Amino acid sequence: MKAWKITTGACVAALIVTGGYVANVFPGEIAPIDQIDAEALTDDLVNQGANLAMIGDCAACHTAKGNHDTSGGLALQTPFGTIYSTNITPDRDTGIGTWSLAAFDRAMRDGIDRQGKHLYPAFPYDHFAAITDADMQALYAYLMSQDPVSAQAQANELIFPLNFRPLLAGWKLLFHSPRPFQPDLALSEDQNRGKYLAETLGHCSACHSPRNVFGAVKQAAYLKGGEAEGWLAPPLGGASISPIIWTEDDYVDYLFDGLSNHHSIAAGPMTSVVDHLYEANEDDVFAIATWLASITPTADEATLSSQVAAVRARDLPDGFDFALTGLQATPQVLAGANVFKVNCFKCHKERIADTQPVSLGQTFAVNAATPSNLFNVVLGGIEPPLGSSAHRMQAVPLLAADLADVAAFVRWRFSVQPAWEGLAANAKTSFSQHTAP
Ligand code: HEC
Ligand code: HEC
Ligand code: HEC
Repeated sequence: MKAWKITTGACVAALIVTGGYVANVFPGEIAPIDQIDAEALTDDLVNQGANLAMIGDCAACHTAKGNHDTSGGLALQTPFGTIYSTNITPDRDTGIGTWSLAAFDRAMRDGIDRQGKHLYPAFPYDHFAAITDADMQALYAYLMSQDPVSAQAQANELIFPLNFRPLLAGWKLLFHSPRPFQPDLALSEDQNRGKYLAETLGHCSACHSPRNVFGAVKQAAYLKGGEAEGWLAPPLGGASISPIIWTEDDYVDYLFDGLSNHHSIAAGPMTSVVDHLYEANEDDVFAIATWLASITPTADEATLSSQVAAVRARDLPDGFDFALTGLQATPQVLAGANVFKVNCFKCHKERIADTQPVSLGQTFAVNAATPSNLFNVVLGGIEPPLGSSAHRMQAVPLLAADLADVAAFVRWRFSVQPAWEGLAANAKTSFSQHTAP
């Protein structure tokens, strides 16, 4: 069904393309430059650009494991195949050393490389397009001031016909309309700064919104939750499912340190986002938190305290009866209680000190619509964010059946959300993905 939809989509796109937009299908080359204009690289601009690159998380995608920063080669899995990020160091042969500011600008706004090839939206230019000219210049200055690294980008492995780049002209026509950021007059200057950073460079909605069959962000479901690299990205702001309402302070803690005492730790693809924000300009990170708070309902102190108390009441005290005597529980929950006792309880119990892990009932992983994040955390462990380096969780190598059982128990005990369906099958899939060579 899915493949059929995609193929149809590609044909529709192809028809639109041939329907009179030929000029956009084959854009021209922008002439290479002989050398980078040193005047374009003042210290001020380079420093500003370094901050913007942190907020844009450029290094997360443009750095392969074990490689130099931003020399490319990271494999990004998409429903359409594998796309490799490119070398964006100023190497003349394999990077962007021959790119003028105009060529860089076109890539970031229109998704077209210097030679005139269309770029895949795995590169989030649909978000970057709205940045200001001044920010564009600063980013360019920063990238061009880095040490050049020679690293040839690997060819993408995409299914036909999506490996044919001119088709992307059709995609852009349907889903990409580059236009400058429009401040919201109802917001303060700080809130607008945060909104600008989050919507453009921060590309938060690239992960936190669902995508349609063409891989484009569904604007109607903006920030209502999405997926990234096998993880669920939670719904944010008014759409949040957190049992404790997010406050501005919580957002500040989470975005800087990757950990909020009322919520959870940043894991999976969110780790590199917070690690880069940890190193970014403080005012900018506060601005993002202020903006997030502006789209989140507020709660008074009494409501917050009762929400916190309700979650903590489900923590397991010392001496907890894992036989669940007298409680109504399915055989799977009962089996899971024992798996939890053996593998999790020594760390995940009643929280009497900040050095202990946060209450499981407040985490997204436990309250989410599917157990993906919980499975990923258990099987892959948690690499702590820079701002919370003591909060490492080692992987717990459970077998698929135990994984399913422990998920059933965790959900039953710590969340008020309905039980997860099809746990045994989901756990098997997750298990085989994590243990694949
Ligand atoms: C989510 C992953 C991701 C992020 C984040 C990202 N990029 Fe990329 N970028 C890519 C991929 C993938 C490509 C190659 C696309 C293709 O082959 O069509 C690319 C291509 C590019 C290109 C074109 C280079 C060339 O040789 O064709 C430039 C320039 C670029 N990115 C700059 C940036 C900058 C600057 C940032 C941060 C502000 C950034 N990217 C953040 C994934 C990413
Ligand atoms: C590459 C994908 C990706 C990007 C980009 C991204 N996030 Fe996330 N985010 C995630 C994932 C995945 C999680 C869940 C992490 C977990 O379960 O531990 C998450 C979690 C969060 C949470 C916790 C929400 C909750 O209810 O638990 C907040 C807040 C958040 N992100 C804000 C942001 C902001 C703000 C930005 C942009 C500056 C952003 N994210 C960009 C993937 C992403
Ligand atoms: C050695 C201690 C330890 C053990 C054992 C352990 N954890 Fe954790 N767990 C942690 C730490 C540390 C964190 C990070 C959160 C924090 O510090 O507040 C964490 C976080 C989590 C989270 C929240 C993830 C997120 O993205 O917010 C879940 C869910 C979780 N653990 C489940 C489990 C389960 C299920 C088991 C048993 C199979 C288990 N843990 C075993 C220490 C442990």
